[in-house]
Amino acid sequence: MTDGMEIGSNNVDALDDLPEHLRPFDACEDNPSNPSANDTIGDIIARRFARRDILKGALGVTAIAATTGLLALQAAEKAIAAESPSRFPFKELEAKVEAVHRVAEGHQADVLISWGDAVFADAPPFDPLNQTAAAQRRQFGYNNDFLGYFPMPGAADPSAHGLLCVNHEYTNEELMFPGVGKQDLKDVAFARMTPELADIEMAAVGGSVIEVRKDGAGKWQVVKDSKLARRIDATTPMEIAGPAAGHPRMQTSADPAGRRVFGMFNNCAGGQTPWGTWLTCEENINFYFFGKLADDNPEARNHRRYGIPSNIQNWGQYYDRFEVTKEPREANRFGWVVEIDPFDPASTPKKRTALGRLKHEGAAGIINKDGHYVVYMGDDQRFDYVYRFVTRDKVDTTNIAANRDILDNGTLSVARYDANGSMIWMPLVHGEGPLTMANGFESQAEIVIEARRAADLLGATKMDRPEDVEANPLTNKVYVMLTFNERRTKGGTDPKTDVNAANPRAGNRFGHIIEMTPPDGDHAADKFSWEILVKCGDPAIAEVGATFSSETTRNGWFGMPDNLAIDHQGRLWVATDGNSSGKTGRADGIWGVETEGTSRGTSKHLFRVPSGAEMCGPCFTPDDQTLFVSVQHPGEADDEDPNALPATFENPSTRWPDFKDNMPPRPSIVAITRTGGGKIGT
Ligand code: FEO
Ligand code: CA
Ligand code: CA
Repeated sequence: MTDGMEIGSNNVDALDDLPEHLRPFDACEDNPSNPSANDTIGDIIARRFARRDILKGALGVTAIAATTGLLALQAAEKAIAAESPSRFPFKELEAKVEAVHRVAEGHQADVLISWGDAVFADAPPFDPLNQTAAAQRRQFGYNNDFLGYFPMPGAADPSAHGLLCVNHEYTNEELMFPGVGKQDLKDVAFARMTPELADIEMAAVGGSVIEVRKDGAGKWQVVKDSKLARRIDATTPMEIAGPAAGHPRMQTSADPAGRRVFGMFNNCAGGQTPWGTWLTCEENINFYFFGKLADDNPEARNHRRYGIPSNIQNWGQYYDRFEVTKEPREANRFGWVVEIDPFDPASTPKKRTALGRLKHEGAAGIINKDGHYVVYMGDDQRFDYVYRFVTRDKVDTTNIAANRDILDNGTLSVARYDANGSMIWMPLVHGEGPLTMANGFESQAEIVIEARRAADLLGATKMDRPEDVEANPLTNKVYVMLTFNERRTKGGTDPKTDVNAANPRAGNRFGHIIEMTPPDGDHAADKFSWEILVKCGDPAIAEVGATFSSETTRNGWFGMPDNLAIDHQGRLWVATDGNSSGKTGRADGIWGVETEGTSRGTSKHLFRVPSGAEMCGPCFTPDDQTLFVSVQHPGEADDEDPNALPATFENPSTRWPDFKDNMPPRPSIVAITRTGGGKIGT
């Protein structure tokens, strides 16, 4: 049964052949004394059916039109539109690319903290020409990505004082360091890198915890002497927890027990748990491993599936653990969801191996109606998968501490999307189906270490780069951002990489968003239904095949959805990665997307980043009056523009946000608020 429908008896003979849920009238509405004298047939249809169902044709528009006439149907749509006001009534921002950031009228967007700013009171001032690892360890890291806002316990206003947990995904050495920025030199064994620069990079990734509060003027400030401030980097001691802990394939010469690892890196998006912890997700871990592993190495097949080594960073030239020929198992200790208690700066971060080893984008969760915690995850690679983890135990809402290790036990599943609009979650459980010793899986530890290969064997649906996956707690719909996949084929040599119902565009350059619906709001169910919310790109270019609603303006469409946030009114906000002058004629940014009513699929532009940057980390305070966002890698070159020069420290595409000579562009967090107060985007 569709949302908002009532099933009544039906006396309209002509409709008897229709399934009951498609019949547009019931006996009551056939009675002329019931509708008001002014009601048109359109008004009646409009009252009886959920707006979105008429809009998207789910009620069988053809059938309705055939029995009531097309004019009546159009009248219905008009009546519905009149009572379906936009949930994003702000004046839309113009889409374009500039050296600066911009926000829609009625809002302000202030830089809160930038790479190199103090995290600790004793941090030295940022000096880009004299960087050191010791200074970087006290300063805000590079390429801020995920943001999680945790209200300060006991705060008078929980939306004016809290902790921000920040991922620092990766480093751009060509933009960070003077004289290093010749990309072509990478092919000459990192000619201008040094051990000192590698140490700075290792100190610039990972994460930060900063305390933030609004000052008397309503401006957000970083609390300079916070006792909760923390930097986590590629050397921070961490514990390995869950099924892979202690397994021989997690053991290295530095850690023969396989339970302790130094650091995390390439932390992309993440999640916040209801028990007050930060989930931070290791994504492109292959970048950090160096060398060339022999084909007969026992880890060779595993490493190949994760693209290891990729020799993007040269840390392995200075540290044996990142050189795969010397320490082939170190890479198995990365690619996990890491759980951190931000309220205890001395706590040891834990790699929760039960959630599988992937190129994790994010780990957004929801307490299911049966009390179990459900985490949705994308594995961001072309042709990789969407995953779900359901805890074995129920969340203890009365004793927060009791949930401390709840993520160590549960069921990891991978998604198969079927053409009939249903999808199934297939469990990655050792001993079930093909996940046995016959295929090289000796235990659940090996299933989670090689989660991708296990998912391959189950026949999961190969997706167009799954990024954030997150449930809307007000509707229980789950949104999957599929950023793009230009390698998707149609009629190609491998049917598995050909278009399928859930990834329907060959050469998908602009991505799409899938909406999944759990039955009766049960996020632990084996089977969901799904549909595409929107195919992205320019709707004015027919061959792109974008499906934004016709109400979407030329500023309102976007490509490459990456992160999402659901505000506390249940509105969907999308952050993008990859728009540029050359690709879409617009910068990355934030767009509000209607998910309900006749406006479903309408998108509206709120904020954009400076040139070369991507947008990440959207995160609302509980009152929806602040939207924190991450501006990542400002100043990069437009790789879709054949005339763009390589971006370097000396020649970035912008010097945002400082615009000073010798000051490189700096990744930063921006706090968006409404001028004079009020909820964002209203
Ligand atoms: Fe780090 Fe999937 O973006
Ligand atoms: Ca991302
Ligand atoms: Ca991305």
